[in-house]
Amino acid sequence: MFDFAADSALPKPELYRELLSAADALTAAESDGVANMANVAALVWQWVPELNWAGFYRAIEGELVLGPFCGKPACIRIPFGQGVCGTAAASGESQLVADVHAFAGHIACDAASRSELVVPVLRVGAVIAVIDLDAPREGRFDAEDRAGIEALAALLASRI
Ligand code: SME
Repeated sequence: MFDFAADSALPKPELYRELLSAADALTAAESDGVANMANVAALVWQWVPELNWAGFYRAIEGELVLGPFCGKPACIRIPFGQGVCGTAAASGESQLVADVHAFAGHIACDAASRSELVVPVLRVGAVIAVIDLDAPREGRFDAEDRAGIEALAALLASRI
């Protein structure tokens, strides 16, 4: 049994430091990428407040394919360059979207989503996946969330 306790009252940098340390402990000894993505999606869901979706899309032959996640069933395939996820995958840059309705080409998988943070996972310079977080409140994500999820993506580069 894994019993990681999330304290969402912590200041964000500390919350993300603890999340990173829990993700490290969960994935260090496991070589199966799907198992690691599944546990990390559950961890993010438990740890990070105010989310309605949290999970992975994997880069497979030029498109993103749905991976392990928590939340409502979602779009399965997203071409590189489309939507917030495809933009992160095509550019290799994190996308912090305060208002998804103002993002041209946003793909609505869950009508409750109002803001979104997508961070690419890079291995040897290539995007192998993206981490996608959706929130039901506009402006939910800031630079601290972005830094925290980018640290998580760096940790996972060799573990998924
Ligand atoms: N909104 C995303 C699609 C994925 S879902 O949010 C889970 C996008 O625009 O790429």
